[in-house]
Amino acid sequence: MHTPLQTIQTVVPHDFIDLGTGDPQLELLPLDLIREAAAHRLGQPDRDFLQYGTEQGDGFFRAALAQFLSARCGFPVSHDDLFTTSGVSSALSLICTLFTKPGDLILVEEPSYFLALHLFADHGLRVASIRTDESGLVMDDLIHALKESKPKFLYIVPTFQNPSGHTLSQERREQLVELAKRHDFVILADEVYQFLSYTQSPPTSFSAYIDSEHVISLGSFSKILAPGLRLGWLHTHASIMKTIITCGVLDSGGGMNPFTSAIVRSLIESGGLDGNISSLINVLGNRVQITSELLKKHIPQAKFTVPHGGYFFWLQVPGIDAKELRKSAQSNKVDLRPGVLFSSQNQLTDHFRLSISFYDVERIEEGILRLKQCFDK
Ligand SMILES: Cc1ncc(COP(=O)(O)O)c(C=O)c1O
Repeated sequence: MHTPLQTIQTVVPHDFIDLGTGDPQLELLPLDLIREAAAHRLGQPDRDFLQYGTEQGDGFFRAALAQFLSARCGFPVSHDDLFTTSGVSSALSLICTLFTKPGDLILVEEPSYFLALHLFADHGLRVASIRTDESGLVMDDLIHALKESKPKFLYIVPTFQNPSGHTLSQERREQLVELAKRHDFVILADEVYQFLSYTQSPPTSFSAYIDSEHVISLGSFSKILAPGLRLGWLHTHASIMKTIITCGVLDSGGGMNPFTSAIVRSLIESGGLDGNISSLINVLGNRVQITSELLKKHIPQAKFTVPHGGYFFWLQVPGIDAKELRKSAQSNKVDLRPGVLFSSQNQLTDHFRLSISFYDVERIEEGILRLKQCFDK
């Protein structure tokens, strides 16, 4: 017996609806755009992108990215402060390797992106969590934690958070940067959903605060182009950048993803990236609106706030055990992600996450109807 030859990480059977997965729908991945950009790049006589790359990442790619980010963020971003990554996940791992040792304490939000928790566990880090509300981190709790402990860094998803969909307010961002300077910890801002805003523009990206020398902003093409590219960026001050670009893995292997970044450079320069973000905002914004109406109608016992951007609905049904709900959902051929997965304290048992990224509205409606049946039992 051979194992099946698999390409995709999450394979969902056709008769099943996994409303929990945060993977993008295959049909939303812009094959034509990427084909055109690849043809443009591969049509040039230049072979540099087939060579070991410069440690910080292809300068022309970073220049195009800097222009894109400056226009989106509304303040100048310099290519000198950008580092090319293989996506947020591997950037987080690299940062843990370079700036922490096993047993170090870090802070995360409660709830937090569960796969980052897995990654921090791989590095043997101790994790303490800070409560959040609809405006993100509860600052009094953070201040209290900082009196008792000295974390290496604070990992946050400040905009359209995974899983809560909440966004850290402007006022709290500024307070947070002041606290990071005073208590000498780094804010690791995972901003993968920053540009997917549907009904309300988010506050300034943490990129605006890199001069504090206490901020690393992480971006990715996974949510605005395609995760298979494994391409992203890190934006930080030269004092932090120095440690990153002189590390062993880059010394040996050169900069990350010279080939892919050269192709994405063409896609940014042609305006294809801006066009793709606009069409994603159209499609996903519509899904958010319809999903919110469907949830209110069919699962009225669920409490949630409608996200202004990103992928996720974070629902609370007081009194339920979402792990039990999941079992019942799975037997009804629908799935969700129980809140406990996103808790570093084994809490949030009456919450669950649904996503609008993987299905069009007809399938989302069918999934919600299947879920409703689990509550009606
Ligand atoms: C908050 C958050 N960070 C990081 C990632 C993964 O990013 P990447 O594909 O760039 O590694 C995800 C994907 O779901 C995410 O939701």
